[in-house]
Amino acid sequence: MKKLYITTAIDYANGKPHIGHAYEKILSDAIARMFRMQGRDVQFMTGLDEHGQKVSQSAERAGVPEQTHCDGIAQDFKDLCEKLNISYDRYIRTTEQEHKRVVRECLQKLHDAGDIYKADYTGLYSKTAERFVLEKDKVDGKWPSDYGEVVEISETNYFFRLAKYQQWLLEYVESHRDFVFPEFRAKQVLEFLREPINDLCISRPKSRLSWGIELPFDSNYVTYVWFDALVNYITGAHYTHDDFHDYWPANYHVIGKDILVPAHSIYWPIILHALGIEPPKTLLTHGWWLVSGEKMSKSFGNVVNPLEFAEKFGADAFRYYLMREMTVGQDCNFSPDRFAVRYGSDLANNLGNLVSRLLNMAHRYCDGTVRKVTIHESPEMNLQKLWQPAIPEIISLCNEFAFHAALEKLFQCVSAINTYMEERAPWKLAKSNDASDAQRIDTTIAIAAEFVRIAAVLLMPTMPSIAERILSALGYGGELNWTTAVEFGDSLAGNVVSDGMILFPKIDGE
Ligand code: MSP
Repeated sequence: MKKLYITTAIDYANGKPHIGHAYEKILSDAIARMFRMQGRDVQFMTGLDEHGQKVSQSAERAGVPEQTHCDGIAQDFKDLCEKLNISYDRYIRTTEQEHKRVVRECLQKLHDAGDIYKADYTGLYSKTAERFVLEKDKVDGKWPSDYGEVVEISETNYFFRLAKYQQWLLEYVESHRDFVFPEFRAKQVLEFLREPINDLCISRPKSRLSWGIELPFDSNYVTYVWFDALVNYITGAHYTHDDFHDYWPANYHVIGKDILVPAHSIYWPIILHALGIEPPKTLLTHGWWLVSGEKMSKSFGNVVNPLEFAEKFGADAFRYYLMREMTVGQDCNFSPDRFAVRYGSDLANNLGNLVSRLLNMAHRYCDGTVRKVTIHESPEMNLQKLWQPAIPEIISLCNEFAFHAALEKLFQCVSAINTYMEERAPWKLAKSNDASDAQRIDTTIAIAAEFVRIAAVLLMPTMPSIAERILSALGYGGELNWTTAVEFGDSLAGNVVSDGMILFPKIDGE
C-alpha cells in the first residue's frame, strides 16, 4: 500500500542546529503524527546534507577531515531530534553509499539521454548559495544577503538541460494547484517560470571542490551540491528498488521559503521529469523565524539555540510555542517574552492547572475513581455545545496545516472546562447532603476528565509527551485514532486516576 511519505529539507552539515531547523522538524513531526492518528501508514524522513564547499570549509576551520566533521554534526542533529521527540522513520545522510549510488545512477541516466552536456561558462557565483546567479537576481541593485560573496568564475562544467523542460513545468504548476502550499507562494514559482531560465550547472571541477560525489562519466568532476541534495528524497524512497512506488510520489516536502525557488520548485520537478519520475505532490513551504525582524542564521550571528529552551521548559512547551505562534507559510518573530506568556498562561495556568485540579478533586471527592455521567443540566449541556462542533473543526484546521488556529481553538475549549468546574464547584457541592449533589460531583469529574482526555488526544501531534502523561494519569490506554478516540463517551468510567501531577512547573527566574 502507498505510504504517506513526508520529508524535511536536509540540513547543511556546517553548523549547530538552530530554531529554523528545529521548527521544520517539529512541524513535519506534528504532521506525521497527525496522519498516523488518522490511520495512515506514514514514512517520515529527515537528514543531513553533507557535501559542498561550505561543509568542506567548516571542516577545515575545525581542523578535521570532512567525514569526521559530518559525523559530529550528524550526531548533534540526531540528538536534537531525540530531545524534541521527532518521530522520524529514516535519517538520511548524503555520504551514505546508497545515496551516492542513486545520485550516480541518475546522472548516468540523464547523460545517456542527452540531458547533460559539457560547456564553458563564465558567470557570477554565490559562495553562500553555492550556485551561479544572474544580475537579475539582485534586489534594489544589491545581492540578497543570503548570497554572501558573489564572484566571477570561468570554467568548463557539465550542464543539465533545464530550459528544455520549462514549458512542461509551467503547464504542470498551472494545472496542479496543490503543488505549492500555501497557494500564494505558487505565484513566485510561476513568475520565475515566465522568464527564460538557464540550464543548470551540475558539476564542480575537483580542482576547486573535491568534497562531493564523483560524476560517473568524468572523474575530474564532482556533482553540484543541489543535485546531490535533492536526490536524497528518492534515495530515501528506495529508488531503483521494487517498492519505490510504495513511497513515491512524496506527499509533502516540508521546506523553508528560501529554498522553494528555484531549488525545489524548478530544479527538482524537472530533474524528476527528465528521469521519468512523477514530481512530489506538495511543497509545503514555511516562513522564517526572525529575531528582531532579521532572518536567524549562523552568518548573521543571531541564532537562538533550541536546546536551551527545550531543556529549560521541556520539549513539549517549546513545540507548543513554535506551533502556536507561527502561521505555516508566514514569517514569525521569535520572542522569549511571548514564550514566557504562552508558557505561563496557556500551559501552566490553563492546561496544567486544570489537569492538576481535576486529579486532586477526583481523589478528594470520588476516591480517585471516574464514575459515569448521570446529570445533564445546563452547565454540562453548555460545555458539550462548545466542544462537540469544536472537535471536527480542530481536526480540519490541522488537516489544512493551520495548527496555530487549531491550538487556539483547543485551548479555548480547555479553558471552558476550567470555567465549567468553577461553575459546578465540587468543593461546595461536597458540603450538601443531597444525593443528587453527589451525582453532580461525579458527573463534573467524569465530564471534565473525558474532555481532558479528548484534548490530550488532539494535542498529541504537538505535545506528544505531555499528552501521553495526561492520558496515563487518567488511566486511558485505549485507541488514539482521531476518528474513534475523539468521541465523547464514558471511556474513563471505572478508571482510578493518578493522585496529582504538575505538567508545567514554575521556572526559576521566569
Ligand atoms: N541543505 C539545504 C537543503 C537541501 S534539501 C534537499 C539547506 N539547508 S539549511 O540547513 O540551510 O536549511 C534547512 C532548512 O531549515 C531549510 O528548509 C530552511 O529553509 C530552514 N531554515 C533555516 N533557517 C530558517 C529560519 N530562520 N526559519 C525557519 N526555517 C529556516 O537549505
